[in-house]
Amino acid sequence: MKKILVCGAGGFIGGHLVNRLKKEGFWVRGVDLKENEYGNNNSDEFIIGDLRDPEIAKKVVKGIDEVYQLAADMGGAGYIFTGEHDADVMNNSALCNLNVLGASQKEGVKKIFYSSSACMYPEYNQMDPNNPKCSEDSAYPAAPDSEYGWEKLFSERLYLSYQRNYGIEVRIARFHNIFGPQGTWNGGKEKAPAAMCRKAAEAMEGGQIEVWGDGKQTRSFLYIDECIEAVLRLMNSDFSGPVNIGSEEMISINDFAKMAIEISGKELSIKNIEGPTGVRGRNSDNKLLFEKLNWQPSQSLKDGMRTTYKWIENQI
Ligand code: NAD
Ligand code: GDD
Repeated sequence: MKKILVCGAGGFIGGHLVNRLKKEGFWVRGVDLKENEYGNNNSDEFIIGDLRDPEIAKKVVKGIDEVYQLAADMGGAGYIFTGEHDADVMNNSALCNLNVLGASQKEGVKKIFYSSSACMYPEYNQMDPNNPKCSEDSAYPAAPDSEYGWEKLFSERLYLSYQRNYGIEVRIARFHNIFGPQGTWNGGKEKAPAAMCRKAAEAMEGGQIEVWGDGKQTRSFLYIDECIEAVLRLMNSDFSGPVNIGSEEMISINDFAKMAIEISGKELSIKNIEGPTGVRGRNSDNKLLFEKLNWQPSQSLKDGMRTTYKWIENQI
């Protein structure tokens, strides 16, 4: 039976990935700094360990056929765009990537998946909220708007170098804002989908919810199940990427807040306040995804938000 390692298994996407891999019948080892706080972990073996330590990386790759590297110091706009965590984000994520990849290659791991981000795309192509450009070939000249994005770009290149020089098979996805149940919904690292659901769920009837920026900035959001489906399809294809894994259903952040309000069933108004906003516009471009994997996401944003809202309401 194929033995799989999921790094970052205590996190949102890692937790869901472990469950799916178990359903597919694999033997799965998870590793993370912490347990999954929402109990989303069905791995055969779970190791609490710090992947910044090369000895831990060496230990967890033992006997493993394929690795999914999702461990990173990450968060939403309130975490990566304030500038306060730049040193930690770059140092912690780069060390995880260097150690996991280096140890995997030495152990003879056959294939490794790396989770990059849409944050690596150049800011100059994301100034017009109604017409952002995020095709894979628009990555250079590089100009990400955050240190988080620069680290992702560096690590993409690191993984591809290992494939070229050492022959380890690499698959790279650029995730575009993934959301759903069992994701961080409070504490400062939460992204807009969870933040909108939480704010609407906590608000009193007739009250208001605060939205950072003027609300005209745009994004697209991909539901977790479709993200996992795409990751497995990529891993099982002969295409290395990098390839976007995201939705093309772009929405302004104020309209997104209105969606959460409608789902809550309450009468609420929006108050736009100052806050970290990141790029003006972002949308996935799925041409390459469709061409290479003959698949693209189909679930509506609203359906995913309904499920996420219910889960967050229960957490509160
Ligand atoms: P997450 O924060 O829920 O999961 C990341 C996990 O990595 C956490 O559980 C964390 O404890 C673990 N981790 C961090 N440092 C570690 C270390 N030194 N040793 C061991 N474990 C460590 O984030 P997520 O949303 O599940 O994201 C997974 C991956 O996908 C990350 O690489 C992230 O950058 C990338 N990504 C996510 C999104 C998104 O919208 N969720 C978008 C783009 C890219
Ligand atoms: N988090 C959050 N909380 N964002 C808000 C809020 C709020 O209360 N109100 C408005 N926003 C706005 C942000 O200002 C930003 O313009 C937009 O909603 C989206 O914010 P996030 O979902 O937090 O992050 P992002 O889309 O800018 O970046 C995320 O996606 C990347 C991949 O596409 C992050 O999670 C990155 O880590 C990730 O790589």
